[in-house]
Amino acid sequence: MSRSQNSFLPCVPPLPACHIPPAAQTPGVKVLVTAGPTREPIDPVRFLTNRSSGKMGYTLAGAFVHEGHSVLLVSGPTNLDVPENVDFIPVETAAEMHDVVSKHIGRMDIAVFAAAVADYTPASVQPQKIKKSGDTLTLELVRTADILGSARQSFGFRGTLVGFAAETENLEANARDKLVRKHCDLVIANDVSQPGIGFDSDHNQVLLVYPDRTESLPAASKHELSLQLVDAIVALKKLMVES
Ligand code: CTP
Repeated sequence: MSRSQNSFLPCVPPLPACHIPPAAQTPGVKVLVTAGPTREPIDPVRFLTNRSSGKMGYTLAGAFVHEGHSVLLVSGPTNLDVPENVDFIPVETAAEMHDVVSKHIGRMDIAVFAAAVADYTPASVQPQKIKKSGDTLTLELVRTADILGSARQSFGFRGTLVGFAAETENLEANARDKLVRKHCDLVIANDVSQPGIGFDSDHNQVLLVYPDRTESLPAASKHELSLQLVDAIVALKKLMVES
């Protein structure tokens, strides 16, 4: 798949000048970002997917690069241009994303999982287009691998691990449960039931859920928010290195 490599994001204004001179930044911080939905095939013409636009992950990837870090973006299908100077590996399915992440995460300092990965995939992919027959159709689905949940134990990742939690209720409690269950250092939580933020929107409002505290960031464009998130994540990485 070929994608334009030479724009940040067309839907957002240019970032302000980098506020830290490059030489003063943490040198050589390598960041893996997952983004977008996954696409789970049913037959040659159909698939299961979700409403993720990929904007949050792509904007974050661009913001990390803007702040002087190097980024590998692993993304399911989106309509977005890959931000300039971001290394990019496109994937379709949860299984493909799992394989790519497992190969690359070992050399990363920070891993940010912004993808909306399908939790279930069809048990088998039909080789031919499924034809209408009865009044109902039952698809058998099986669980996909939890990529973020595999990072610590299966992939042996020791860097700064950041997950996302897109919730419609009990935002903080659900995010904290994911933080513990998936051994994250930070979960960025957003309420996707709120109109105008989250999925498919240019704006977002998030809670930063850490093991010892929760912080609330005000609603902002995904663009502005991504710079605050980069600062928070890099500060967390520095703290982890120092402790
Ligand atoms: N995630 C992942 N692989 C999966 C599912 C989720 O890497 N198969 C990551 C997402 O990228 C996100 C975090 O896990 O960073 C939380 O995703 P979410 O779908 O909210 O979590 P689930 O564990 O699937 O919980 P739920 O039961 O709420 O769907």
